[in-house]
Order: sequence, then structure tokens, then C-alpha cells
Amino acid sequence: MSNAVETDRVEHDPVRTNVIETREVCRYFGTEEMQVIALDHVSLTIEKGEFTAIIGPSGSGKTTLLHLIGGLDNPSSGTIELSGENIATMSGTQLADFRRDHIGFIFQAYNLIPVLSAEENIEYIMLLQGISADRRKKRVQEMLAMVGLEGMGARRPAQLSGGQQQRVAVARAMASHPDIILADEPTANLDTKTGISLLDVMRDLNEQHNMTFVFSTHDEKIMERATRLIHLRDGAVEKDERK
Ligand SMILES: Nc1ncnc2c1ncn2[C@@H]1O[C@H](COP(=O)(O)OP(=O)(O)O)[C@@H](O)[C@H]1O
Ligand SMILES: [Mg+2]
Repeated sequence: MSNAVETDRVEHDPVRTNVIETREVCRYFGTEEMQVIALDHVSLTIEKGEFTAIIGPSGSGKTTLLHLIGGLDNPSSGTIELSGENIATMSGTQLADFRRDHIGFIFQAYNLIPVLSAEENIEYIMLLQGISADRRKKRVQEMLAMVGLEGMGARRPAQLSGGQQQRVAVARAMASHPDIILADEPTANLDTKTGISLLDVMRDLNEQHNMTFVFSTHDEKIMERATRLIHLRDGAVEKDERK
């Protein structure tokens, strides 16, 4: 990370390699009479640099788990630590800052800002982080090249295909150099070939930068590229296999 850190980002203990730790995490929805158990005592440790797929049938809790890990939702019980920090003890602002500086999200619906160009979408979080204009421009070009979209930076989302928009979403998530990238069915709206090539881009980034990826999928071709498969069923971890 040597020249990648600009400002006053919190540096974590470098010996520590567990970037995500959930302990006995439960998430219930609904009322007491009509309760849905979305997650049922999930305890997981994900180490730095892992390329993990969360798999399981629809309704098994994949999205809920990713939202909780990303601090977008709170567990009903249990704790979640990211790089050794318990996210439940952070204030709203602290959590927002933490998310901005340490976590990149890629959602199924790309969530690009339609009035901004691809470049501006990629630049946005870096702008919030207070990174200088020169550095932002340079980083944007690097990211566009990394995802194979050189020369397309000026286009708005509507002028890009679904696969290209998803690549912009990956570039945006990567641009701020987060420790963790969370991706909820990142290939769900893509044809198989585009989905696989997107996964290959993610895997390259994972290998080059030792960035931790956790993504959900129910596509066999996508899951076979993961180095770890966490199987969820009815909100519980049914199987956890490392390759
Ligand atoms: N906001 C919510 N309100 C009520 N039930 C929810 C909510 N979010 C998820 N659930 C329920 O929790 C369970 C897990 O959902 P989800 O995490 O979306 O599964 P997956 O992503 O694996 O399809 C499902 O039964 C779903 O209906
Ligand atoms: Mg889901």
C-alpha cells in the first residue's frame, strides 16, 4: 500500500490477517408472530486476500450477510469485526467514514449515477476521500485500463452495455483502494462470457493487490473460480470449503 495512502486513514495492525470476523450473527425480519430468520448464528472468519464466494439458493441469506458485513444493516444479535474493529460500536459518522475508506461495494444493479460519466462515477468516492485532483485523474485512468474500458471514460452509463456498466462498478469499487470488496451477485445481469471475464478481472485485482473479495453467486461457472465457497442454507452455514 506504500504510495497508495494519502491522508489520515487508520492503519491497522499489519500482523493481523482476519479482515472479516462474524460471531454468532443472527438477523431476524418481521414481527414476533411472523418472523423470518434470515441469518442463523453465522460465525465466519475471512482472511486478507481470500477470494470467497457465498453461495446458496435464493432466500438463503446471501444479500443479508453481505449487507451486514458492509455495515449497511445491523445484526439482531452477534458481532461483526472488520480489521479488528467492532462495527457496532462505531457512531453513524465513524461507520460511514470506515465504509468509505475500507469497503468497496458492487451491487447487482450497478448503482451508477446516471448523470455522471464513467470517469466521474469512478472518481466520486475518491473525491469524498479528499484525494487530490491529479491523483484522482491518474487513478481513474488506471482503473479504466484495468477493467478494459480505456477510451470509454467520457460515456454515461446509458451509453454503455450492461457488462461495461458492471465493469465501471468494479472500477469504482476498486478506485479508493479498499481492503474489502463486497459484491452481491455481480454477474447476475450478464451473459456467461461477460460474467466470466468480469470475474477474471476481479481475480487479477485480488492477486495483484491482495485485496479481499467476498461475492455471492448462484452461477456454477462463477463459483468455480473462487478459492473458498461458503454454502448458506436457511441462513446458516451448511458447508465451508477452501480449495
Ligand atoms: N428487508 C427484509 N424484510 C423482510 N424479510 C427480508 C428482508 N430482507 C431479506 N428478507 C428475508 O430474509 C431471507 C434471506 O434473504 P436474502 O438475504 O435476500 O437471501 P438471498 O440473497 O440468498 O436470496 C429471505 O427469506 C428474505 O425474504
Ligand atoms: Mg440476494
